[in-house]
Formats: sequence, C-alpha cells, structure tokens
Amino acid sequence: MNLCIRITWFFLTVFIFATDAVTAATAQNIKCMGCHGQTEFLKASTSRAYIDPVKFDSTTHSIIGCVSCHDKVSPAHPIDGYIPPKATCRECHTPVFDEYAKNLHASKAECNDCHDPHEVKLPEFMSGYDINSKCAKCHDSRKTVQKHSNWLPQAELHIDSLLCITCHTGSKNYVIIMTIETRQQEKGNNFKTATYQELSELAASGEVSTLIDTNADNLVSLTELREFNRNLRGRNMRLWGMMTPEVVTHSYSILENRWDCSFCHASGPKAMQKSFVAFPDGKGGYSRVAVEKGAILDILYGTPDFYMLGTTRSTPLNIIGGLIVAAGLSVALGHGFFRFITRRNREESDHEA
Ligand code: HEC
Ligand code: HEC
Ligand code: HEC
Ligand code: HEC
Ligand code: HEC
Ligand code: HEC
Ligand code: HEC
Repeated sequence: MNLCIRITWFFLTVFIFATDAVTAATAQNIKCMGCHGQTEFLKASTSRAYIDPVKFDSTTHSIIGCVSCHDKVSPAHPIDGYIPPKATCRECHTPVFDEYAKNLHASKAECNDCHDPHEVKLPEFMSGYDINSKCAKCHDSRKTVQKHSNWLPQAELHIDSLLCITCHTGSKNYVIIMTIETRQQEKGNNFKTATYQELSELAASGEVSTLIDTNADNLVSLTELREFNRNLRGRNMRLWGMMTPEVVTHSYSILENRWDCSFCHASGPKAMQKSFVAFPDGKGGYSRVAVEKGAILDILYGTPDFYMLGTTRSTPLNIIGGLIVAAGLSVALGHGFFRFITRRNREESDHEA
C-alpha cells in the first residue's frame, strides 16, 4: 500500500536476496496464473480477469509479482467474493505521475488507458505501430490525418512514419526503426506488419532476424539491406521506417517547434543516422538489431520505401529537399507541388501497419 515501503521492500529484496525474491514472486505468479492465465478463464469470465501468461512473463512487472500490486488476496479467493485491492501506478512511478499530472491531457486519459499493467513494455521492445495504437484508441486515425493535413503535406504518410509522441511530448533522441511488412493482397499497396509466425516460417534457421542479418553478427549492413530488398521485396515484403524517440516523456502538449519542417528534414550531422530493424520476438514484443550507420539514408538500395527529404545520401535530392523544406514553402505551395516533386504518390496507399 505505502509507496516507500513498497519500493524499499522491492529494492532491498532484489539487491540482498535477489534470487529468493524472484523465486517467491514467481511461485506466487504461478499460483495466480493457475486460474487467471487459463484460456477457459477467458471464456468464462465477463471481466478482463484473463491475463496472457506469455505477455505477462516478459514484463518487468512479473518480477515484482502479482501480490506486489494485489496484496490481501484472501485464502478463500475467489469464493468469498472479496475483491483484492489494486495498487495505483503513482505508488511506484511518482516521477512519471508528477510529470503527466502537469499537462492538460491528464484529465483526458489515465495511466491504465494507455498501459495494461499486465503487458507493460519499454518502448525499445515495441513497434511504432503498437505505440501509436495506444493513441488510436481515442483519437480516430482518419480524423487525425484530416486535421493535420491542414498544415502538414502528405499527412497520412507522415502519421504512418512518425509516432504521435514525437510531436506531442518532449521525447528525444530520434532514431529510425524499420519493421518488415507483408502485402495483404496480390496487388495494391495494402501492407501489414509481418507476424512472428509468418517470418519464422521463412527464416531457414527459425531465427527471424537472420532474414536480413544473414551472417547473424547482430548488425545489419548496407549489403544485407540490399540483399533483403533484392530478394524479398519481390516476394511482397518491404521495410517500413518510422522515426522514433529513444527517450519518452509524458509531457503531452502541442509543441511549437514541431511546425518547423527542418526539425526533422535536415541534412548534415542533424540528419537521422542511427537506425534499427525491429523483429517480432514471438512474445508480443520486438527486439532491435542495429543497422550500419548511415545505411538508412541510402534510398536507392538500403531503404527504397523510406525517404526523408533533405537527409538522403544523394546531393541533388537533398537540394530539392532543402528547397521544399525551406521556411514556409510547404504551406505556400500546397499539396499539388508535393505530389509532383515526390517520386511516388502514396496518397492513395492504403497503409495499415
Ligand atoms: C482458483 C482460481 C483463482 C486463483 C488461484 C486466483 N484467482 Fe483471482 N479471481 C478468480 C476469479 C474466478 C475471479 C473473479 C473474476 C471475475 O470477476 O470474472 C478473480 C478475481 C480477481 C481479482 C479482481 C478482479 C476484479 O473484478 O476487479 C484480482 C485482482 C485477482 N483475482 C487477483 C488474483 C491474484 C493476485 C491471485 C494470486 C495470489 C489470484 N487472483 C488467484 C480466480 C482465481
Ligand atoms: C504493477 C502492478 C500489477 C501487477 C504486477 C499485477 N497487476 Fe493485476 N492489476 C493492476 C491494476 C492497476 C489493475 C486495474 C486495471 C484497470 O483498472 O484498468 C489490475 C487488474 C487486475 C485484474 C482485474 C482485471 C479487470 O480490470 O477486471 C485481475 C484479475 C488482475 N489484475 C490479476 C493479476 C494477476 C493474476 C497478476 C499476476 C499474474 C497481476 N494482476 C499482476 C496492477 C497489477
Ligand atoms: C509495486 C510497484 C509498481 C506498481 C504499483 C506499478 N509499477 Fe510499473 N514498474 C515497476 C518496476 C519496479 C518497474 C521496472 C523499473 C522501472 O521502470 O522503474 C516498472 C516498469 C514499468 C514500465 C516500463 C516497462 C519495463 O519493462 O520496464 C511501465 C510502462 C510501467 N511500469 C507502467 C505501470 C503502470 C501503468 C502502473 C499502474 C497500472 C504501474 N506501472 C504500477 C513497479 C511498479
Ligand atoms: C496518453 C497515453 C499515455 C498515458 C496516459 C500514460 N502513458 Fe506511459 N507511456 C506512453 C507511451 C506511448 C510510452 C512509450 C511506449 C511504452 O513503453 O509503452 C510510455 C512509457 C511509459 C513508461 C516507460 C518509460 C521509459 O522508461 O521508457 C512508464 C514507466 C510509463 N509510461 C508509466 C506511466 C504512468 C505511471 C502513467 C500514469 C501517470 C502513464 N504512463 C500514462 C503513453 C502513456
Ligand atoms: C482514453 C482516451 C485517450 C487516449 C488513449 C489518448 N488521448 Fe489524447 N486526448 C483525449 C481527449 C478526450 C482529448 C481532448 C479532445 C481532443 O482534442 O480530441 C485529447 C487531446 C489530445 C491532444 C490535444 C491536447 C492539447 O493540448 O490541445 C493531443 C496532442 C493528444 N490528445 C495526444 C495524444 C497522444 C499522442 C496519445 C497517445 C500516446 C493520446 N493522446 C492518447 C483522449 C485520449
Ligand atoms: C509532425 C508532427 C505531428 C505528428 C506526427 C502528430 N501531430 Fe498532432 N499536432 C501537431 C501540431 C503542430 C498540432 C497543432 C495543429 C493546430 O493547432 O492546428 C497538432 C494537433 C493535434 C491535436 C489537437 C488539435 C485538434 O484539432 O484535434 C490532436 C488531438 C493531435 N494533434 C493528435 C495527434 C495524434 C493522435 C497523432 C498520431 C496519430 C499526432 N497528433 C501526430 C503535430 C503533429
Ligand atoms: C517530426 C518529424 C517531421 C516533421 C516535423 C515534418 N516531417 Fe516530413 N517527413 C518525416 C518523415 C519521417 C518522412 C518519411 C516518410 C517516408 O518516406 O517513409 C517525411 C516525409 C515527407 C515528405 C514525403 C517524401 C516522400 O517520400 O515522398 C514530404 C514532402 C515532407 N515530409 C515534407 C514536410 C514538410 C513540408 C514539413 C513541414 C510542414 C514536414 N515534412 C515536417 C518527418 C517529418
């Protein structure tokens, strides 16, 4: 219940009796999951009382264990009908709570609206699409695109390639995260994030990262990216890139400098050099493999589906990009110009990540 006691207890036990604490928590978890982790329970229960064991086990919260957050589970649970209490996030995450409480958004959504406490993850183990779908629960995607298109050219493409939190929180340290997508129909531009199942069937070794990182050295080189594009693009796959912050914050707002196109479209040292491919891990999460520095900017061979104006390796394209992005041009010239200047018109691309 008490914040200090909980945290002190947690850290003391972890540091001094590390294995004991984890073993005890694990034993408790197994007991609880004997009911709450059974699929029959899912069908029988009208509440959200089913907890996916695979997803729960891969969270940090599983280390602290069910009873850290639900103490006082009665011996006769559940027959006695006593509902065990639920810890509040504030008890252990005071800094995040305090930061979030300062924004207008705190009155619009609670921690639990964006996080399931039984499936929490650090952003580095998630895909950009999964992070954005937290927002899509309340912010209708079509309306969001429509509103942003008042000032943002190719708003749909932007919103598919950016996290909402990139522009609406003080998040920082941006990198490009690519995920493998597969075409849903024989023809057309309808792509979806490839599942672990799909990819592990294709990977000879069963290790999905070797689909691109063929020499399994845990680094994707430009050569390996080219190979992937040569071999698998023809087989209805592509790499979809998203600009993603490595450090997230909960300072929700509309940030003035995000109107400025050059916040993202810049060449030189500011350009996005760092990138990763995120492979599904089969447990509902993702693991990232680093890409050779700068390879992301090779739009011809490295990432033909990802093109950030002004940041590519090609000088002529950078000049065009720089001109486009130069102060205010965007708004003055309107959308027609952008359709003309960009290689592909992806307006009608029916992208579902
Ligand atoms: C014998 C099966 C069983 C075991 C073991 C069990 N539970 Fe439950 N639990 C239930 C049932 C049934 C409910 C009522 C579910 C519903 O409302 O649909 C419940 C409800 C709950 C609720 C309240 C849900 C609500 O309505 O707010 C919590 C919290 C909970 N259990 C936690 C635990 C924890 C923690 C453990 C392990 C210490 C545990 N349970 C072990 C069967 C079990
Ligand atoms: C980090 C804290 C935390 C841990 C660990 C945790 N829970 Fe929960 N649990 C919560 C919170 C908070 C809620 C209320 C969620 C909400 O209201 O949306 C909740 C809700 C529930 C519910 C009710 C679902 C509902 O909304 O009706 C059940 C059942 C439950 N937890 C069981 C468990 C079991 C079993 C475990 C261990 C396998 C566990 N919890 C681990 C924090 C936790
Ligand atoms: C009993 C303490 C406790 C409670 C209550 C608690 N957490 Fe946590 N949570 C932790 C610890 C410990 C970690 C791992 C270290 C850290 O990030 O501080 C963690 C990590 C997280 C993470 C990052 C995931 C990761 O793998 O590190 C998220 C997201 C999170 N918690 C959300 C929540 C939310 C939302 C609630 C309320 C429903 C909540 N927590 C309640 C203790 C708690
Ligand atoms: C409007 C949605 C939203 C709300 C509300 C929200 N979060 Fe988050 N939070 C996110 C997103 C998005 C991330 C990054 C992806 C992830 O890790 O889930 C994140 C990440 C986190 C992390 C991991 C941060 C890290 O170290 O990288 C913690 C811990 C966390 N949230 C706790 C909380 C707590 C506690 C609350 C309530 C005070 C809360 N969140 C409310 C959207 C939200
Ligand atoms: C539980 C519902 C809910 C979730 C989830 C949610 N929001 Fe909101 N948000 C609202 C509501 C309600 C408003 C106020 C009405 C509006 O502007 O649409 C709002 C307003 C906003 C605003 C305008 C704030 C301002 O200062 O004018 C931004 C920006 C925003 N949300 C971003 C996000 C982002 C980013 C996420 C995902 C990380 C998210 N929201 C998730 C409900 C939600
Ligand atoms: C490129 C940066 C950028 C991205 C990406 C972005 N936004 Fe915005 N957003 C803005 C700016 C700037 C405004 C202020 C525009 C205005 O006032 O007309 C805004 C306004 C908003 C508003 C309030 C204005 C309204 O009329 O509804 C909401 C809500 C919102 N954004 C949600 C989102 C969500 C949800 C996402 C992700 C799907 C998202 N935004 C992605 C920059 C961005
Ligand atoms: C928060 C970062 C961010 C901001 C701010 C931003 N962009 Fe972008 N933009 C991107 C990303 C990421 C892409 C890459 C999309 C892709 O190719 O997959 C992109 C793509 C584009 C494209 C399409 C290139 C193509 O592939 O056809 C145009 C045109 C563009 N941006 C213009 C602008 C203009 C004009 C502004 C200012 C009004 C702006 N952008 C603001 C991140 C941003």
